[in-house]
Amino acid sequence: MIDKKRLKFEEYNGIKAFYIPRLNGGATSFGHDFVPIVKSMFGRVGTICEFCSGPGLIGFSLLANELCDRLCLVDINPEAIELCRYTIEQNGLEGKVDAFVSDGLKNVPANQVWDLVISNPPHFDGSEKEYKNDLIAIDPGWRVHREFYADVGAHLNKGGRILFVENSAGSNYAMWEKMIKENGLVPVKEFVYSGPRPKNNILKNGMARLSDSVRDGTLFSKGIRYHANMAARLVKGTYKYDKFYYVLSQKA
Ligand SMILES: C[S@@+](CC[C@H](N)C(=O)[O-])C[C@H]1O[C@@H](n2cnc3c(N)ncnc32)[C@H](O)[C@@H]1O
Repeated sequence: MIDKKRLKFEEYNGIKAFYIPRLNGGATSFGHDFVPIVKSMFGRVGTICEFCSGPGLIGFSLLANELCDRLCLVDINPEAIELCRYTIEQNGLEGKVDAFVSDGLKNVPANQVWDLVISNPPHFDGSEKEYKNDLIAIDPGWRVHREFYADVGAHLNKGGRILFVENSAGSNYAMWEKMIKENGLVPVKEFVYSGPRPKNNILKNGMARLSDSVRDGTLFSKGIRYHANMAARLVKGTYKYDKFYYVLSQKA
């Protein structure tokens, strides 16, 4: 159970969305780009799913900007979904927002059907061991992506879209194009967002995550390799905005 006294929050048009820095994978920085992107590309849709939602900040920001009527949040980490449910309860969003602890879409009920799935998934390949220590950054052998693309068709309305933000330091469009086609979906395009955005605070977020891990004791349990990888990514600049690209696909 997360100590609610340590929660931070972002406020989007009156929705207070709670998180802890350790579970923030970029929603408070480049994650803000989803609002202008979804607004200009799709406008308001019926239902949005945020896959790999963490505390659901991107999804809540889309809901708060009236870009959907209903929202579904999915993450493998029970702590993240606990925070999603806390935000739902604190803002009286029961009936509008659902949240599921699920490895991929395995535990998502069949009656969940969406017009748009957005995601900021783990951006780097790695071993199963690295994944266990770092659910935010690692997708081992890309199985999280592969299983998602294999299963999502059953949860999409006809013509439903999927928009993932990816990191060119860890992947390229050609591999997603292949994976999307192999799973019977239609790759539409890749693009880079170059519109207005808040100042890059990724380093600040990284430091907040580190101090959070010291406080809750996960600093040492994760092992030195996790922190070394994180530091290496920061030094190499792999979290810079210009490395992010978007992958749009859809159900035929
Ligand atoms: C880069 S973080 C994004 C978190 C949040 N959406 C954000 O933008 O800050 C990736 C998220 O993917 C989740 N994740 C990793 N493997 C998953 C899986 N197999 N199924 C569902 N979620 C998964 C992690 O728990 C983590 O919250």
